[in-house]
Amino acid sequence: MAKQLKIEAELTVYDTVDELPLEIQDLMNKAQQARNDAYAPYSSFKVGAAILLENGNVVIGNNQENAAFPSGLCAERVAAFQAGALYPKVAFKVIALTAGSLKQQTTTPIPPCGACRQSLAEYEVRQETNIPIYFMGETGKVVRAASVKDLLPLIFDSSYL
Ligand code: THU
Repeated sequence: MAKQLKIEAELTVYDTVDELPLEIQDLMNKAQQARNDAYAPYSSFKVGAAILLENGNVVIGNNQENAAFPSGLCAERVAAFQAGALYPKVAFKVIALTAGSLKQQTTTPIPPCGACRQSLAEYEVRQETNIPIYFMGETGKVVRAASVKDLLPLIFDSSYL
């Protein structure tokens, strides 16, 4: 007999960045600075990421595009891989993401792409603690997911290998 399984995720929606805890506002500010420095001449879509680590350090990333399109990389993975390289044993405490198009104002929250969710999930599984993710456009509402699992419920991890 087939069974129906329901997957639910609870997300928190803030009306503006001003409603965020101060520590997160500061982190989002760093993600916004990183977004400005993104190298996105092909898509004109700039993304910034800032990861606060358990040791208090902040590691940033932004999208890095390439004339050979698939050779570019998203902001989230630039930040996560940089953090993994610089601080291999330090857990991620929280991640802030912001994205915006140079063609129009981006006012809706932009979630990380599927490939980045999968990459971030590996860090969460490894460190055995949830990594909250805050994401937004350039302005407007901010969404908080308490865990990568809320954005990628059926995580593929090493237990399947
Ligand atoms: N991009 C990111 O940096 N993160 C995402 O999660 C979605 C997409 C970048 C990749 C590419 O440089 C541009 O945004 C348009 O897809």
